[in-house]
Amino acid sequence: MGPLSTRGFHHITMVSTDASRTLAFYQDLLGLALVKKTVNFDDPGAYHLYFSDRSGEPGTILTFFEWPRSRRGSWGVGGVHHLALGTSDEKTQLLWKRRLTDAGVHVSGPLDRGYFKSLYFTDPDGQILEIATRGPGYAVDEPADALGTALVSPPAERLPEGRDEGAIEALTHPDPVPEVTEEMRLDGIHHISALTDDLTQAGEFLEGALGLSLVKRTFNQDDGKTKHYFWARYDGREVAPHSAFTLFDWAGSTHCARPGAGQTHHIAFRARDDEEQEAWRDHLLGLGIDVTPVLDRTYFRSLYFRAPDGLLMEIASDGPGFAVDEAPSELGRSLKLPDWLEEKRPQIERTLVPLAAR
Ligand SMILES: [Fe+2]
Ligand SMILES: [Fe+2]
Repeated sequence: MGPLSTRGFHHITMVSTDASRTLAFYQDLLGLALVKKTVNFDDPGAYHLYFSDRSGEPGTILTFFEWPRSRRGSWGVGGVHHLALGTSDEKTQLLWKRRLTDAGVHVSGPLDRGYFKSLYFTDPDGQILEIATRGPGYAVDEPADALGTALVSPPAERLPEGRDEGAIEALTHPDPVPEVTEEMRLDGIHHISALTDDLTQAGEFLEGALGLSLVKRTFNQDDGKTKHYFWARYDGREVAPHSAFTLFDWAGSTHCARPGAGQTHHIAFRARDDEEQEAWRDHLLGLGIDVTPVLDRTYFRSLYFRAPDGLLMEIASDGPGFAVDEAPSELGRSLKLPDWLEEKRPQIERTLVPLAAR
């Protein structure tokens, strides 16, 4: 087997203080499908909800631990700044802006980021979310077969002083958008952006440990100065979907992320199967990285480790998937527990507050 290289994200796990409110936001407003209702296997009194674009495929999965008493966290070094979900184009993006705004969600953008256009808002716990267009992609300012080789300065019109903020704010779809139409469906993790205090060390880790490639070296377009680098699964021709991880360079900063509600708990990258999962463990241990044993999470197998700046990461196997304990047409309908928690089902069901139907 050659050097290991992840195919991209498997899932992202965030912290909610109210599972019913999270369900209403991600299912009813954002149109994602609840594909699994279970408990945190390490804390069975807490819900663990899984959402996806309905496919349940790696790269489309958002999960939430419900910790009602969790204090609000805050972003910083060693944490995720925001999660971007994909939409097909600028038209569907404006449909989203109108739908979210009408629901009372404050939305900013769309901002032209060059490689895609971006809308920003937060979920009810404060997690920063983005809806990003699929294109035009990373080859707009350097050749598709040489991504990441140049340090690219964004043009003036994409920086704050070059934008027409009034026109951006006013731009929206003219009519209400009461339903999430098929063309609007969000298609999973577009990218995840985090903060690091050591971009060089972080890059060596992403490339050496995870096998990702540097595909863009540029600057934060909201200040024009902070370095903003993008890594992804890249074969020298194309960047794979659901694989872009970006880092803002907060060199030497001690402003660290504080875990809690509205923050990302961890991000998971893909392993092809159980055999590759074992190879990942050996590979990471061989690099001197502290790695947990492989744990059975029913829907996939997992191992956990930390990036040098502190971000908790996971390698999760593609299989066996969410249909392992309920029919594909029934995903998310009933509370599923692993065999070893089934005997505690009565206590667990008494502890969990039923999710409010809407
Ligand atoms: Fe972003
Ligand atoms: Fe996970």
